[in-house]
Order: sequence, then structure tokens, then C-alpha cells
Amino acid sequence: MEAPWQQAVGEVWAMGDYPSLAPHLAAPATLLADRLGDGHGRRALDLGTGTGSAGLALAQRGWVVHGVDLCEPLLDVGRRAAEEKGLVIGWHHAPMEEVPLEDATVDATVSSFGTMFALDPAAVLTEIRRCTREGGALLFTAVPRTGVVGDLAAAMAEYLPVPPESAPDPFDWADDLTVADWLADGFEGVTSTRHVATWTFETPSLGLERLFAASPLHCAAEHVVPDRAEELRRELVRVLETWAQGTAVPVEFTLTSATRS
Ligand SMILES: C[S@@+](CC[C@H](N)C(=O)[O-])C[C@H]1O[C@@H](n2cnc3c(N)ncnc32)[C@H](O)[C@@H]1O
Repeated sequence: MEAPWQQAVGEVWAMGDYPSLAPHLAAPATLLADRLGDGHGRRALDLGTGTGSAGLALAQRGWVVHGVDLCEPLLDVGRRAAEEKGLVIGWHHAPMEEVPLEDATVDATVSSFGTMFALDPAAVLTEIRRCTREGGALLFTAVPRTGVVGDLAAAMAEYLPVPPESAPDPFDWADDLTVADWLADGFEGVTSTRHVATWTFETPSLGLERLFAASPLHCAAEHVVPDRAEELRRELVRVLETWAQGTAVPVEFTLTSATRS
């Protein structure tokens, strides 16, 4: 039986049209898979797999992949893509705070912009430690507060109710000191590197329109403040325009890697 918060997370990520945005995050997911290399039948866990960007890339490299996500419609998109490519992936409709796998049964745990949205980071870290076998790899991407996504989030926060003090900060997952502290227990060789992905659109206005119609978190925000939705959209367009270089928006992200000790 799904808890109300789990249902709410699934409903938020089903808003808008995330599958149309996912290809813009394909390059970081491929980077994760390239870093891990060929799987030769080893087991990988993809947390917050969504439509399976990282999981599919790993399955194509010979990993036996288990993807975990709370949003069933996104998992369905991944299931169809896997079928079309003839890939077998275990798709689990479950929270990353309670991974439905046995202890020490995965050789690599990855997350492409998934763990940063966890409501309970400590529980997710416990699950990563529990599921990843000794010597196994951990690799995840996250966006920093200093990039375009951080600026969009800050602009959006002006319109939304103040979150409780206990609410996690998603940008912590891209902060190398915080992450090193979190992973000191159970991991070694922690490194974080900075990268840039590029969102490219046919024209700036088409890009903005697509982004705002498709982004689940933006749609959820408009839902919370329907009478200020237009104003919010104008403000976010202004922020995006400060980052756009012609039809391209550079999106900074971090890649953290570590080995389970
Ligand atoms: C930004 S999307 C990333 C999706 C995918 N990894 C990609 O690279 O396109 C974040 C994903 O995390 C999922 N998610 C958020 N909180 C979750 C939780 N507590 N447990 C499981 N999945 C969660 C969402 O449903 C969504 O699919």
C-alpha cells in the first residue's frame, strides 16, 4: 500500500510532459554509463530512473539493471523503450528510500538527477550503502545551486510557501563538501567533477514554451499559485534568458563517484 507522500511524488512527476524533457538529460546519463563501462552481466541499480535514461544506457552496455521510481507513467515510457530495444530491465515502482532489493546485491548504484529529489536523503544513503556490495561503484549526477536550475528554483521559491526547515535541500547533492561528509560512512575515493550539458531548442521562445509546458516542477508550482501563474512564467523566462546563448542554455551539473568500502 502506497503512503500518501509516495503517491504525491508520483503525481507531481507525472505533471507536464517529462518524457519530452528527458532527452535533454540524455548526455549526463550516457556519461554515467560510459564511466561504468561494460557490465558483463553485473547488476546495476538506477535510483529515480524516470523514463530510464541511465538504466537503458547501462543495459545496452551489458548491465543487468534495476530501475526504481515512484512515477508509474514515467516507468511505463521506460518499459516501452526497453521493449523496443530488446532490453530486459527490472522496473520497480518504489521509493528510493525503500529499495526493494536484497542487501549487497548490486555492483553499481547510479542516479541521473534522481537522488537529489529524495525527500529523505539519509534514508536514500542508507539504502545505497545497504544494496551496493563492497567494492561496488556509486555514481550520481546533480545540479548545483549556482547554475541555471538553481536560479530557476530561487525564482520559483519567491512564489511558493516557505518549506519547513526540515525539508531537504536538493542542491546539497551537488555540493562536494556535503557529499564527502555524507559518503564518509561506507565509501572511499569520493570525487566530484563539474560538467556542462546543453539544452538546445529550435528558437528561444519555442524552447521556453516547451520547457514550461513540460517541466513537472514548474507545472506543480503553477498549480499551487494559479492566480500568479502568468507572472511566475514571465519571471522564469527572464531568468532563463539571462542564461541562454542563442538557442542553447548551458546547464551545469556535478558527477560524484565513490567506491563502497
Ligand atoms: C529529474 S527526474 C530524473 C529522471 C531520470 N533519471 C533522467 O535522468 O531523466 C527525477 C526522478 O526522480 C523520481 N523521484 C523523485 N523522488 C523519488 C523518490 N523519493 N523515490 C523514487 N523516485 C523518486 C521522479 O519520479 C523522477 O522520475
